[in-house]
Amino acid sequence: MTKHFLTLLDIDPANLDSLLQRAIELKRMQHAGERFAPFSGKVMGMIFDKSSTRTRVSFETGMAQFGGHAIFLSPRDTQLGRGEPIEDSARVLSRMVDIIMIRTYAHDYIETFARYSRVPVINALTDSYHPCQLLADVQTFVEHRGSVAGKTVCWIGDGNNMCHSYINAARQFGFKLRIATPVGYEPDADILAAAGDSAWLCHDPVEAISGADFVATDVWASMGQEEEQKERERKFADFQVTAELMSHAKENALFTHCLPAHRGEEVAAEVIDGPRSIVWDAAENRLHAQKALIEYLLAK
Ligand code: CP
Ligand code: NVA
Repeated sequence: MTKHFLTLLDIDPANLDSLLQRAIELKRMQHAGERFAPFSGKVMGMIFDKSSTRTRVSFETGMAQFGGHAIFLSPRDTQLGRGEPIEDSARVLSRMVDIIMIRTYAHDYIETFARYSRVPVINALTDSYHPCQLLADVQTFVEHRGSVAGKTVCWIGDGNNMCHSYINAARQFGFKLRIATPVGYEPDADILAAAGDSAWLCHDPVEAISGADFVATDVWASMGQEEEQKERERKFADFQVTAELMSHAKENALFTHCLPAHRGEEVAAEVIDGPRSIVWDAAENRLHAQKALIEYLLAK
């Protein structure tokens, strides 16, 4: 059976925990200058229908450090952008490369792709989920504070792909998620309902953040929603993570953001650039967590 990573639910909680411990170990090895290149000759195909800085550089660097190679595939200069069926693209690419990473719009695109792929497929962000970011975010929390199980995590802002992955993470890592979104920008009702009492939704940022150990937010307009930017700025105005809002969380609460961030919109500069922010560690951990993920998916 080919293993895929389309959402966090594709890996059971025990394996997710070991994967993050392995990420911490791979990070230690990399920082110590130990060469670890078990994937010489292995190739990753990287399909990007949307822009990226961190995701592209972390996957490409990870494969290079492992002794393998990565190929950047853009729809602009491949047949992917000229209407070749997903099924055919999946069949052809997966006969050549060893693992495939996809960043795209509709989540069902990667589901279809994975059905026709002979090799593991990784979700590198869809309109619905961003599970790789959660591996890094949880790894970072664990490094700073220990296990996230039983902790209270707060999501402020849009009920978007990142919010959906936080909901799944609450189920898989055993934390309580408290979400505050503006009315009309709630997460998908089915994804929320499936989390049972692991995730809880309201429309009041102060209520949601009260007692939180970890606070996360994201842009107000995601990729593909650029034309809604102005309207969203109005509707999300009360959802900026400010120092005042953070004062309602626990005293030692940490803050994160998947980046890129807009200071003065979803987060105040003094928060993202302040002492409780772990955004740079989380950004770096994309590399280590995804290396652990590649190892897990390529394991026989
Ligand atoms: N956080 C994240 O996925 O960043 P990029 O869009 O730069 O890949
Ligand atoms: N929600 C954002 C995340 C970017 C990493 C987006 O989809 O654009």
